[in-house]
Amino acid sequence: MPMTIPAAVEIDHRDLARQAAFCGYVPQVFRTVDFRRWCEWGEWNDDYRAFAVLDEGRVVANASVTRMRLRIEGREVIGYQLGAVGCVPSHRGRGLSRVVMQAALDSCGDAPVLLFANKNVLDYYPRFGFTPQEQTLFGASFQAEPGGEPAPVLDLAQAHVRAGLASLSDEGLAVTERFGARGYSRIASWYAANAFSRPLRQLHADAWVFAGVEDGTLYVDDIFAREPFDLRPHIPRLIDQPITAVHFGFTPERWWPQAGVIGEDTEAWLFVRNLVLPPGPHRLPVMART
Ligand SMILES: CC(C)(COP(=O)(O)OP(=O)(O)OC[C@H]1O[C@@H](n2cnc3c(N)ncnc32)[C@H](O)[C@@H]1OP(=O)(O)O)[C@@H](O)C(=O)NCCC(=O)NCCS
Repeated sequence: MPMTIPAAVEIDHRDLARQAAFCGYVPQVFRTVDFRRWCEWGEWNDDYRAFAVLDEGRVVANASVTRMRLRIEGREVIGYQLGAVGCVPSHRGRGLSRVVMQAALDSCGDAPVLLFANKNVLDYYPRFGFTPQEQTLFGASFQAEPGGEPAPVLDLAQAHVRAGLASLSDEGLAVTERFGARGYSRIASWYAANAFSRPLRQLHADAWVFAGVEDGTLYVDDIFAREPFDLRPHIPRLIDQPITAVHFGFTPERWWPQAGVIGEDTEAWLFVRNLVLPPGPHRLPVMART
């Protein structure tokens, strides 16, 4: 008897029972990843939808879609980012990931879609019309010593901090105008909920940065600010040891125009569909990736 291919269901933030089933699926496919805390924080909103195949109430395959306010060469473009794409090991090879991918892509219509893949699935996404795109690492040599009042650390476990990040992200500057986004505080908070992010530090009321030092390099992963400002005088407040370099989680054309390309981003592999990216090097902010 031929196997019938099940249909995908759409899970949104109002559907708490299926949300729990989704949370149960994720660690079966991505061992270190958990959505529970992020859901408890109330960060799943209308911008996040999961397309799933269920088996006896369990999610066995999934492709999630995040609505994105992309910024591309200074223009806002509504697009979508796929994430949490997978199938539990016991159900692989039956076409179930194709079912959820198709449902997720149908929901995006003709809008641009992007995703970040891991190395094992580089031949998978081209089957769905995606093409690979290079992402660049940016950095600059910079000598600095700790000094001044250390920038306070903000805790995203607190609702008012999440609300503050959301308003800076929704209304403030895009960290880059080349290839970036706005309004992705709920992606950034997911990293914090999983303890994957660098600390969130407050430079002043309207300028918050995810940043941390490793081996003499300051990594500035993202900047959420209402107005542009000179980052350099704040660097001593972000470091607890001398540094010789600053690396950026985004294209730093606004914040550090002298920064150079220091390599290719080989941690995550960008794939796009219906999306033309600007020529030249760029990096979608790491805190905007699902
Ligand atoms: C990759 C993965 C989602 C495939 O799930 P699956 O349910 O076995 O896939 P399907 O049976 O629906 O296969 C769909 C198509 O993709 C192909 N395919 C499956 N895995 C593939 C891979 N790793 N590379 C390339 N092609 C692949 C299948 O041959 C099939 O092709 P066809 O429809 O043209 O015949 C699954 O192996 C998985 O969950 N992997 C771990 C999680 C992961 O890495 N997810 C991606 C995160 S970026």
